[in-house]
Amino acid sequence: MTTLLVTGGAGFIGSNFVRHVVGDTDYSVVVLDKLTYAGSAGSLAGLPGNRVRLVQGDIADAALVDRLCDGADAIVHFAAESHNDNSLYDPRPFLETNIVGTYTLLEAARKHDKRFHHISTDEVYGELELDDPERFTETTPYNPSSPYSSTKAGSDLLVRAWVRSFGVRATISNCSNNYGPYQHVEKFIPRQITNVLRGARPQLYGTGQNVRDWIHAEDHASAVLTILDAGVIGETYLIGADGEKDNKTVVELILALTGNPTDAYDLVADRPGHDMRYAIDATKLRTELGWTPRYRNFEAGLAATIEWYRDNEDWWAPAKERVEAFYASDPTRRF
Ligand code: NAD
Ligand code: DAU
Repeated sequence: MTTLLVTGGAGFIGSNFVRHVVGDTDYSVVVLDKLTYAGSAGSLAGLPGNRVRLVQGDIADAALVDRLCDGADAIVHFAAESHNDNSLYDPRPFLETNIVGTYTLLEAARKHDKRFHHISTDEVYGELELDDPERFTETTPYNPSSPYSSTKAGSDLLVRAWVRSFGVRATISNCSNNYGPYQHVEKFIPRQITNVLRGARPQLYGTGQNVRDWIHAEDHASAVLTILDAGVIGETYLIGADGEKDNKTVVELILALTGNPTDAYDLVADRPGHDMRYAIDATKLRTELGWTPRYRNFEAGLAATIEWYRDNEDWWAPAKERVEAFYASDPTRRF
């Protein structure tokens, strides 16, 4: 029986991945998660106890990581500080978790010779112009903009160095923006959905023209499992589902799907250093490993996500007040 050590498995994408693994394989999963403000045991509720075990702990805790890696067949590394706005306000936890935490895991994978898959982001490539005909590929130069994306870029480079210098059996994936159930309400789509459900207006940064390339978290999960099973050691794979949308269009869709006037939103102060556009060319993953996304209709996926937030207020309500207090503070202090 294969046992995966899944770091950050109580967060948004990690918990979607654990559900996918339980449904699609006979693997067992040990989740290592610090349960920061972004993680919750509730995101793993209902999963079978004989297949999934949650260990609360820090990926930078070398003794704990060493013990858990020893008992696993492979490590799938999702854990990170993940929110750009938080990284502009207080970068330190991003360095500690994304850089030192990844280093700690790599050292354990090296010592115990374990297969390692590193989850990363398209933000390492920086921004594209709105009219750029090119999209990101595996050979696009790194050019990160924020403290968050620069620490993710640093962690990717650590993985590459541990492959080359120490022979660690690692792969890397860089994915575009995810949406779906269990996403923290600090993030764009859940923040606007839960605002509307509470009778508040969505908040669009700047002009709302910024473009993100949306993929359902379940499709990200199936792509990661594909790479874990069939990816070539030392390779990077970009994950995306051709889902480019500007933020204004997404907000208008949320308003329309909830029966509200599509202009019932506010334009607010922009995020400093705000990347204009991300877009992924996932040809390598599709052609070399045969992966395809299941969610091809963004509007249908968004409607199902809105229903999930409508049905699961107990899961998100505790975080909502804190997030909105943070965002309501003076913009010069917010970032
Ligand atoms: P998230 O913030 O929802 O979850 C992160 C999880 O990591 C939480 O459960 C948190 O408790 C845990 N964690 C944080 N610090 C830890 C530490 N020191 N030790 C152990 N656990 C710790 O994040 P997410 O959106 O699910 O992102 C998961 C991964 O996917 C990240 O590596 C992120 O960079 C990457 N990613 C995210 C997106 C996206 O759209 N959200 C897109 C591409 C890549
Ligand atoms: O591209 C992948 C990345 O996507 C991941 O690496 C990150 O972990 C993830 O958080 C996400 O980063 P973004 O910065 O793109 O996501 P966020 O949800 O913060 O914002 C999405 C877009 O919406 C962005 O253009 C900023 C805008 N925005 C965000 C919030 C929270 C708003 O207009 N209003 C908001 O209230």
